Amino acid sequence: MNVEEIYKAMQEKLRNVVPEAELRYKAELAAEINRLKEEKNAVILGHNYMEPALYHFVPDIRGDSLELARKAAQTDKDVIVFCGVRFMAETAKILNPQKTVLLPAQKAGCSLAESITAEDVRRLRQMYPGVPVVTYINTYADVKAECDICCTSGNAAAVVESLHSDTVIFIPDEYLARNVALETGKHIIFPDLKGRSDNAADTDVDFQMIGWRGRCEVHEQFTVEDINTVRQQFPDVVILAHPECSPEVTRAADFSGSTSAMIKYVEQTTAPHYLLLTECAMGDNIAAANPDKEMLRLCSVRCPHMNEITMEDTLNALKHNRYVIEVPEDIRVRALRSVQRMLEIG
Ligand code: 13P
Ligand code: SF4
Repeated sequence: MNVEEIYKAMQEKLRNVVPEAELRYKAELAAEINRLKEEKNAVILGHNYMEPALYHFVPDIRGDSLELARKAAQTDKDVIVFCGVRFMAETAKILNPQKTVLLPAQKAGCSLAESITAEDVRRLRQMYPGVPVVTYINTYADVKAECDICCTSGNAAAVVESLHSDTVIFIPDEYLARNVALETGKHIIFPDLKGRSDNAADTDVDFQMIGWRGRCEVHEQFTVEDINTVRQQFPDVVILAHPECSPEVTRAADFSGSTSAMIKYVEQTTAPHYLLLTECAMGDNIAAANPDKEMLRLCSVRCPHMNEITMEDTLNALKHNRYVIEVPEDIRVRALRSVQRMLEIG
């Protein structure tokens, strides 16, 4: 599509979510990104949290962490531009060592990935010898390399159950671990690295999940009070919460699932109002794609990391071949085992 065609399509799709004054400029950026993408034989992957113009008009493939990891494993392009955060781009590199993987903004991190180190995992393994370690995909490659298998919000319970193990270490998201423990009927403890449990009475029992106290700085902010307040005002609202929210919040919500599961839920149901407890851009993206759905866009929390990725950065990534993601080969091959084992589960 040329600039004029993209501009018209943007006017049509984004009229309720992006100010008209921004659209022509964004259309020009999108056209230039598409041109360079062809020239460099690149594919652009975009996470569901990207801002609406980028999300709807730039990526070849959109999705949640699991879908994007699967697609990254299948591409035949020379260059992968990852419009998401660093751990996602690293996963693409782990799966595609021969390809150039670019992350458009250097600072796009994640509070969960930063909550745990490879050394922490080694110490957990010493404390619980022989216990398999599941890592949420929101970790860096060196942490994945110390673990047995990855999971995402879309398959966490299935991954834990696939291990058929009495006890499982699940890192680093405390709330996802608690939600999985509830879903799979498991008892969970949170030891510190000195060997103490936060619940002394539990140390003798045959506990089944051992968690870590990482949190998503976005999802930990949602509370049951938020839900109650919205329900008072909109009694017919359907509330969807990401499983990185606390179990109190996911239980008080009507549905909990990965970002793509939430999108599908809204697409496939008919409710007077929907509220998403997740990164705000997703509400805009769903509203743009489903003008007939009434999204309550009570936008209070943004992911500062996902928000680092802009259309300008994406264009510059292609133009200047930046920022190249590298994973040392010895770490990559070990991390790959954890990622592949997850992908084989389906
Ligand atoms: P999804 O895998 O559900 O897209 O989640 C990724 C993420 O970082 C949510 O905060
Ligand atoms: Fe990480 Fe939370 Fe941002 Fe997702 S929303 S990238 S888990 S900080």
